[in-house]
Amino acid sequence: MRIRAETVADYNEVFQVNVKAFGDREDEAQLVENIRSSQGFIPELSIVAEKDNEIVGHLLLSKAVVQDGEKLYDVIALAPLAVLPNVQKQGIGKALIQEGLERCRTLGYELVFLIGHPEYYPRFGFQPAGLHGLELKQFAVPENVFMVCELKEGVLQRIKGELKYPETFF
Ligand SMILES: CC(C)(COP(=O)(O)OP(=O)(O)OC[C@H]1O[C@@H](n2cnc3c(N)ncnc32)[C@H](O)[C@@H]1OP(=O)(O)O)[C@@H](O)C(=O)NCCC(=O)NCCS
Repeated sequence: MRIRAETVADYNEVFQVNVKAFGDREDEAQLVENIRSSQGFIPELSIVAEKDNEIVGHLLLSKAVVQDGEKLYDVIALAPLAVLPNVQKQGIGKALIQEGLERCRTLGYELVFLIGHPEYYPRFGFQPAGLHGLELKQFAVPENVFMVCELKEGVLQRIKGELKYPETFF
């Protein structure tokens, strides 16, 4: 298996991977398309897993901000993550997340947020964001699915406020 950045030639295949992973619905695939054409898109953070020349998984990380009064902090939002149903539970999601977090760290980002399965993401260092004084008001979700991963030690003590997803997410 090879983990690499997505290229323009992959767009159609990535669309299909997202459709299939999310039970034959297009919402997440469309979200990927919308983020790609937005200011929050960072090409090297759209990552694919390739097996036998076929794309079997995709992860997108893009820009968001945390607002604390007048202060704005640049952070990353992880969404979506998709692995083809016939190859799930083989470590492809794990490989994509690990590579994604490493790339974010290299680019200098300190926090990665997501809304996701509370049993899956803690193994990669994600914790409930609410425990650290971070808020989410744009989506009404249970507390334990709004998570954050600290890429640099101590950052969660310094940064508080409300996570704001860009317009593209709505
Ligand atoms: C979630 C997903 C990306 C995981 O990818 P994957 O390649 O199967 O994951 P990995 O092989 O790295 O990890 C497998 C582990 O994740 C767990 N897992 C998979 N889906 C899960 C879910 N929905 N909730 C909780 N745990 C889940 C498996 O039980 C397995 O646990 P184990 O290692 O303790 O046995 C994949 O199942 C998927 O595409 N699901 C549909 C789309 C989706 O829900 N995306 C995430 C939105 S938050």
